[in-house]
Amino acid sequence: MAIKTIDDISVSGKKVLVRVDFNVPIKGGKISDDSRIVAALPTLRKLTGDGGRVILMSHLGRPKGGERNPEFSLAPVGEALAKLIGKPVGFAKDCIGPDAEAAVAAMKDGDILLLENVRYYKEETDNDAAFAQKLAKLGDVYVNDAFGTAHRAHASTEGVTRFLPTNVCGYLIEKELAYLGDKTANPDRPFVVILGGAKVSDKITVIDALLEKADAILIGGAMAYTFRLAQGGKVGNSLAEPDKVDVARSALEKAAAKGVKFLLPVDNMICDALDFGGGTLGNTRFVSGDIPDGWEGVDIGPETIELYRKEVAGAKTVLWNGPMGIFEIKESSKGTFAVAEAVANADCTSIIGGGDSVKAIKKSGHGDKVSFMSTGGGASLEFLEGKALPGVVALDSK
Ligand code: 3PG
Repeated sequence: MAIKTIDDISVSGKKVLVRVDFNVPIKGGKISDDSRIVAALPTLRKLTGDGGRVILMSHLGRPKGGERNPEFSLAPVGEALAKLIGKPVGFAKDCIGPDAEAAVAAMKDGDILLLENVRYYKEETDNDAAFAQKLAKLGDVYVNDAFGTAHRAHASTEGVTRFLPTNVCGYLIEKELAYLGDKTANPDRPFVVILGGAKVSDKITVIDALLEKADAILIGGAMAYTFRLAQGGKVGNSLAEPDKVDVARSALEKAAAKGVKFLLPVDNMICDALDFGGGTLGNTRFVSGDIPDGWEGVDIGPETIELYRKEVAGAKTVLWNGPMGIFEIKESSKGTFAVAEAVANADCTSIIGGGDSVKAIKKSGHGDKVSFMSTGGGASLEFLEGKALPGVVALDSK
């Protein structure tokens, strides 16, 4: 059911409590990827432009047991946001209580205030009702735009909605639901899905859900080796899940029964001495078919790249989630970057399903050519699996 958005409410002069996902990578106060802050800007511009008093809540990292560790302070994020949005952003040293309340009371229409990390309280992740009520007390209306955290039923994403009369989503959540939801539920066809990553166990529910919608599913990453075992092949020392072979086999059978093209790599780059930490592979070569003992697969090979490129080029909708190999090491990154390029150049709706694939497409320099890059990691996967997201379900429906 469609949920209400910030376009359905009036915020002028109101205290708008906005949950964003500013859980960005920070080291020594430096933000290495500000995409999640940038992704929240349209919502923040709209709310401030309409005269709302915007009070931002977010988590950052996972402070142990709700401990107030300065390493997880949102202060540097407030500074980055001020630069990006081109106006001052106030900062409250606490997300509830007298500090937060005084900062909110001093706000004028169009102001932005960022509250300190909500996970400085363990009541946040416990979804404690009294804590949620204290957060709710700061606002007149609630806006959730934290898609990346929408799969968590926490106080600032779910509990808070019980104490406010109006609960809507921002433009980011609206867009995420449109691309990961509507555009994959009613895709322009052919709809080609590319799935990679290490484990079949991480992706099997996604594969199952997408087998209902896709015309073709292309598999890469280490999870391809479990599928290869399911076909009776040999994978040498490759990372595989022998206990998931049955699961992989039933996915293959389901695909055949449904007439969904299910492609596995026809060749692989293999190596004999992978040292992930040191970033080295030892000797490498390409093989078609079985992987010999003493060797392990680390990337898809050139024939597979060509095969996948052709599938992607003919698609009208592409969804990509998960790298094709160990793309952190240059030698075994070609498959992932070739797929990134193919997706970016295809004349279709291209959706990057979050996590490592977003990193890869940005690193490939093609980020601006895709239709949509999700800001979610776990949230995108759960949504693609067809699970209800608590942070979305809690909002008002149209
Ligand atoms: C994420 O980065 O996936 C979200 O911000 C959620 O963070 P969490 O896994 O710590 O809840």
